[in-house]
Amino acid sequence: ARAQIGVTGLAVMGRNVARNLARNGFTVAVHNRSPERTRSLVAEHGDEGTFVPGESMADFVASLERPRAVIVMVKAGAPTDAVIDELVPLLEEGDIIVDCGNAHFADTRRREEALRAQGLHFSGTGVSGGEEGALRGPSIMPGGSAESYAKLGPMFEKIAAQVDGVPCCMHVGPDGAGHFVKMVHNGIEYADMQLIAEAYDLLRAGLGAEPAEIAEIFRDWNNGELESFLIEITADVLAHTDAATGRAFVDIVQDRAEQKGTGRWTVQSALDLGIPITGIAEATFARSLSGHVDQREAARRAFPDAGEKWQVADRDAFIEDVRRALLASKIVAYAQGFDHIRAGSEEYDWDIDLGGTATIWRGGCIIRARFLNRIREAYDQQPDLSTLLVAPYFAEAVAAGVPSWRRVVGDATRAGVPTPAFSSSLAYFDALRAERLPAALIQGLRDNFGAHTYQRVDRDGSFHTTWAGDRAESPA
Ligand code: 6PG
Repeated sequence: ARAQIGVTGLAVMGRNVARNLARNGFTVAVHNRSPERTRSLVAEHGDEGTFVPGESMADFVASLERPRAVIVMVKAGAPTDAVIDELVPLLEEGDIIVDCGNAHFADTRRREEALRAQGLHFSGTGVSGGEEGALRGPSIMPGGSAESYAKLGPMFEKIAAQVDGVPCCMHVGPDGAGHFVKMVHNGIEYADMQLIAEAYDLLRAGLGAEPAEIAEIFRDWNNGELESFLIEITADVLAHTDAATGRAFVDIVQDRAEQKGTGRWTVQSALDLGIPITGIAEATFARSLSGHVDQREAARRAFPDAGEKWQVADRDAFIEDVRRALLASKIVAYAQGFDHIRAGSEEYDWDIDLGGTATIWRGGCIIRARFLNRIREAYDQQPDLSTLLVAPYFAEAVAAGVPSWRRVVGDATRAGVPTPAFSSSLAYFDALRAERLPAALIQGLRDNFGAHTYQRVDRDGSFHTTWAGDRAESPA
């Protein structure tokens, strides 16, 4: 039988996507550079569906029905280009290459353009959900042409996670749109994780609580508005005891967070587009800071007692303050992430459906959360919403959380507990709602030292003051 789709690159993610396709009744051609992996996949999981193993790339391609759809599941960057170069001479007009890795959207745009010129479709597809998701139902974010989606859509929508009967997959938009949305997903994932980490740190410092006790607090939070995969696994990780030492697992792990680059890409892109995604940026920088061991050591020695002693008077009230501050900060991070997607969509003409994006993140992906239903509703009700912060549900949650947010950030600051994401989210909120911003002074300074001109509140046009001379104002 001819295979309906192929997967090349059978490391964990590729293997699990291939198995997921086969389990859902699709005939899947499978290929790996070293054929042992192909053989072991078929030997171990051949009974899950119909696999067509290809020893060589040519055999693999020849086993596919037309138009051929080939999923490439190799490392982003040069390895992806190498596989594409190997595939292209074997393909024919109308065939589709799907890159399911975490590629940078700019690379995806470049590849799509080059392959389009050769009559091929290239679908840069974001896949989220880790190993388990790939096997049991990920969130899938395909970019590329409508024609390529006509072939891929029915398969991807079937293997994706389903929430209330709706697949966590939609055609995101042309060329780099899918990988762009996956990138922002990861940026939000960074912000979510940093906020959770700060909440844990606050509870630990404020209550003097042990990780296992904090795990219970997160477990409880997971029954309410904060319900999400990351909150759920936070409880799991915090409750875990290290077998070797009997200590809490979080206490035996080195406190240096690593990153593979998608958070950094998100921040870089937001800088280019002029979108203040401060929560994601703080989260990314917080990971970098954690890795600067020498500086941390030097500062720890120089300032051993820079904070005040922290004594929380009312345990339950404090926990509720942290929960509300976490929710409000999380709303800010998502509002910023969706602003970023809208700006990318406008810049690159992708016409991305924001409500649809929230819909396909409800299941399968790492940031899946109850809260995403509310984002979808917000965009359903008002597609041109200026910021998620002012949508009724979110405005109410933020307003209800403001006193808690201020108390938590204020207390943490006095105690010397770092809350970069909590406090910068609060600053973002206060800046957005401010009547006047000191940006006016910055404009004055720019005009003073560089004649960069300014605009007035009471008249149209641009103006310059001759600061070094008679201080007369003239239209610029
Ligand atoms: C996903 C994840 C995944 C990412 C890891 C690690 O959506 O399944 O985002 O794509 O690779 O989360 O990312 P970092 O190493 O940068 O933390």
